[in-house]
Amino acid sequence: MRRKLAAGNWKMNGTAAALDELAALAEATREARAEVLICPPATLLSRAADRLSASHVTLGGQDCHAATSGAHTGDVSAEMLRDAGASAVILGHSERRADHGETDAEVRAKAEAAIAAGLTAVICVGETLEDRENGKTLDVVRSQLDGSLPDGSTGDTVVVAYEPVWAIGTGRTPTLEQIGEMHTHMRAELARRFGDEMADATRLLYGGSVKPGNAVGIFDVENVDGGLVGGASLKAEDFLPIVRAASGPPRF
Ligand code: PGA
Repeated sequence: MRRKLAAGNWKMNGTAAALDELAALAEATREARAEVLICPPATLLSRAADRLSASHVTLGGQDCHAATSGAHTGDVSAEMLRDAGASAVILGHSERRADHGETDAEVRAKAEAAIAAGLTAVICVGETLEDRENGKTLDVVRSQLDGSLPDGSTGDTVVVAYEPVWAIGTGRTPTLEQIGEMHTHMRAELARRFGDEMADATRLLYGGSVKPGNAVGIFDVENVDGGLVGGASLKAEDFLPIVRAASGPPRF
């Protein structure tokens, strides 16, 4: 049985003051059945880990380098994230694919490094609006999955987040039918490559404009195992109903 996951991606937002928001979220979600993962900027990780030491809320990074150490100015390794208190890392987010030209092969190398360091790799895939309008959505995501997931991936080592690029930060989302179609497609693709057991065990998140008002509907779609949430994860009062949506019914 896959446990639902409510993951927050703070992106490049948050200074020390945001740790109070994190503590408030941890307090409010103590009874949550869903797993709660927050990915703050790397600068906050170790302080967040100190604040949350007695909490169920887990922490993640937003990217890592594929190497363990070395001459890579400005980069952070998976081991460093782990050392700072992370148990997961988001990889291949469309903002990194766009801003830093990350390829599937790079995402895969990073995922291998993350898994070797003991982190869960939250691997993002998703089509552009142009892909969707050209009827290429399923093919694009199939090819991203093939290229980005390491051989030997398991339900413990990877989570897949389907994030249509055109839905991120825009307030637009695919229909529930479109989300269901994609998630069924992704699970079938995982089964084809890794076998049924892995496909059954691996959590498939939806991301892109998940809000308190649409989370219940999205998380109830078959094969959706939770969400990767940007803007609505920054404030505990917005993220709390999303964690509730991932936890129920009955809701805590
Ligand atoms: P959003 O971002 O919830 O603000 O649309 C989602 C994401 O980029 O992970």
